Amino acid sequence: MQLTDQHPLVAHATRDSRLIRASLGERPDLTPVWFMRQAGRSLPEYRALRATQSMLDACRDPALVSEITLQPVRRHGVDAAIFFSDIVVPLVLAGLDVQIEAGRGPVFAEPVRTARDVARVTAIDPELVRERAEPIADAVTRTTLLLADESATRGEPIPLIGFAGAPFTLAAYLVEGGPSKDHLRARRLIHEDPAAWEALTGWLAAVSGVFLQVQVAAGASSVQLFDSWAGSLAPAVYRSAALPASRAALEYVRALRLPTGAGMSHVPLAHFGVGTGDLLADIATLDLDVVGIDHRVSLDEAVARLATAVTVQGNLDPALLFAPPHVLDAALDRILAEGRAARAHIVNLGHGVPPETDPDVLTRLVRRVHERPDAA
Ligand code: CP3
Repeated sequence: MQLTDQHPLVAHATRDSRLIRASLGERPDLTPVWFMRQAGRSLPEYRALRATQSMLDACRDPALVSEITLQPVRRHGVDAAIFFSDIVVPLVLAGLDVQIEAGRGPVFAEPVRTARDVARVTAIDPELVRERAEPIADAVTRTTLLLADESATRGEPIPLIGFAGAPFTLAAYLVEGGPSKDHLRARRLIHEDPAAWEALTGWLAAVSGVFLQVQVAAGASSVQLFDSWAGSLAPAVYRSAALPASRAALEYVRALRLPTGAGMSHVPLAHFGVGTGDLLADIATLDLDVVGIDHRVSLDEAVARLATAVTVQGNLDPALLFAPPHVLDAALDRILAEGRAARAHIVNLGHGVPPETDPDVLTRLVRRVHERPDAA
């Protein structure tokens, strides 16, 4: 699949944005900053828009999605937008019966626990996701147009980050039927029926891979694969049971060809998981541009463990958003210093913005990051 000169990387110069430059290992004038879950319940303007619709209905409403995606960009002045959607949206498009319960997360009507369950799900052609993805593609395109307007006002290109769930994390929800603490049922299936596990995660790689392709083709300038729960696996199990399917999902993005005018060889790939400190050497084998780090490992230590030239993203503990300003500022100074160990650094939290966060704290944080020049 070939992207054209109409893609925002070329047409809206998002190639020259701070986020994309840092993703590719350049050090722009200022360290870029954005927040996982920057769109969402911490913003009163989000709560007002979301008052009437379910989360998954909202995700298929292009006008609403693009407006919600822009809210934190306008309010906080972050260096990137992340597409407002959810990791289970491609599964909805594939026809699975899933709801997102407020305060809990995704819940599946029929958990996938046996070889027979796996066969039922994997019989669905992942290409159906592409055929049914028009509301997603439409939402991405509208969002990139709104971002181009916002970029003109700001005088700085603002890229859109697309995303998908990694196969292990999606399987952790599917096998369990909903959120769980230790993902025991998913970990059990890995050992009980390795063939069924491989079939399921292979199918999920295709579903997430198609979802990523749809977003990039419609205008996303980079992508992030969320393997939020990978940290519940031992490194050897991660290597054999999770990594191959994550690699396969990322291949869908690597397969996209950029026009020569883009001045880059590929769409930047980022990865994030919670509690992945012991997995970083394995994650590094995914040949990523950016690795997200949670707050449990310092960025300089993470760089040592990654042992390869990647950009790091993170890693302020979300709990610090509730600390007195001087404590938060000191923590920011520390991660900016630790991030210098990497080829480039993108400031983010160690996980998502908690819903009860005071949004003014995030706005102030962005301003402080932008007050520090970062010429190499
Ligand atoms: O701003 C952004 O980061 C983009 C939007 C985004 C959402 N979900 C919106 C959302 C992204 C990137 C996700 C990914 C996602 N979804 C992940 C991976 C990232 C992570 O946090 O680890 C996971 C594990 C999910 C599954 C999921 N969906 C959970 C655990 C929840 C929270 C349930 C709750 O109510 O606390 C959701 C729902 C969800 N996805 C919300 C949002 C804004 C909250 C629902 C609402 O506002 O009604």
